[in-house]
Amino acid sequence: MEVTGVYLVALMLFAAVSSTVVNACPPSDRKALLAFKSALTEPYLGIFDTWTGTDCCTNWYGVSCDPTDSRVNDIILRGESEDKIFERTGRSGYMTGWLSPSLCSLDRLTTLVVADWKGISGEIPACITSLPHLRILDLIGNQITGKIPADIGKLEKLTVLNVADNKITGEISPSIVNLRSLMHLDLSNNQITGVLPADLGKLSMMSRALLNRNRITGTIPSSISGIYRLADLDLSMNMISGTIPAQIGSMPVLSTLNLDSNRITGEIPASLLSNSGLNIVNLSRNSLDGHLPDVFTPRTYFSVLDLSFNKLKGAIPKSLSAARYIGHLDLSNNHLCGSIPVGFPFDHLEASSFSNNDCLCGSPLMRVC
Ligand SMILES: *[C@@H]1O[C@H](CO)[C@@H](O)[C@H](O)[C@H]1NC(C)=O
Repeated sequence: MEVTGVYLVALMLFAAVSSTVVNACPPSDRKALLAFKSALTEPYLGIFDTWTGTDCCTNWYGVSCDPTDSRVNDIILRGESEDKIFERTGRSGYMTGWLSPSLCSLDRLTTLVVADWKGISGEIPACITSLPHLRILDLIGNQITGKIPADIGKLEKLTVLNVADNKITGEISPSIVNLRSLMHLDLSNNQITGVLPADLGKLSMMSRALLNRNRITGTIPSSISGIYRLADLDLSMNMISGTIPAQIGSMPVLSTLNLDSNRITGEIPASLLSNSGLNIVNLSRNSLDGHLPDVFTPRTYFSVLDLSFNKLKGAIPKSLSAARYIGHLDLSNNHLCGSIPVGFPFDHLEASSFSNNDCLCGSPLMRVC
């Protein structure tokens, strides 16, 4: 009886010990996280103070593990969030340092978010492309320099690539078109140069492509129009030239198209203005010429239609007054001529929507026809 009791206690102890061993993160993952931590300095919130002890799966701020094998799956560190740790200090996050390549030994990582810390510099570790399970890479709002790794296309499972608001340079690697799971691409507000890959249309899962505020040259690849799911395309504030591919107007779910502040020439494709799903269009500050296509219908619905600062000529199409809704219309700073149509949407617009044209007349301008 006594022997059985001792045996039972021993068995229970063994079970307890072995379960802690199973639930704790492997020492190699812990070591990688500690190396990642040691390359960063976060002086105000103390988030890394929680990164102590042997089990990196428990109570390490921003770290989560796969419950079945205790491998590190996610690192989610956001410098701007609703988390109570920010409430307590009453300030948003700030961090300096760089992203240690030690991250790359976390070979089960699916999510890496190190966002809005404002001060993290250095480059994206090139070895990041060897993380086969990576789905989300979000490094927005830091001071990251260097290029996007040349073989980024190896990340077959990547759905989100967000490096916006950094100081990324170099060209967009042609390999990017191999990111066959990519849904959300945000490279905006960096210093990216070079042209858009001609076969960008291979990114067939993509629904948002934000590449604004860079130094991109070359033309808009017409293959983009083959991206069935693309809802939001922003190429504004670059140095893009050439014409707007007419096929873009036939995209089934495109709702926002911002091409403003580039060097785009040619005419505005009629299909673009007759696409009733397209609701926000900004083509301002380009060199678009020709006449405004007369293709508006009672299905026309624009929250924003900004065509200002181009070289458009001729008259404002009468059909524009058939539109169901136009929130913000800007035709100023072109070479338009003739009378401004009467009725909706023209009756709620201000003179500034029509100013600085060659010879427009009628309300709301002071000039009578
Ligand atoms: C359109 O783009 C121009 C130039 O980039 C910008 O100044 C303007 O505010 C934008 N229009 C709207 C309605 O957002």
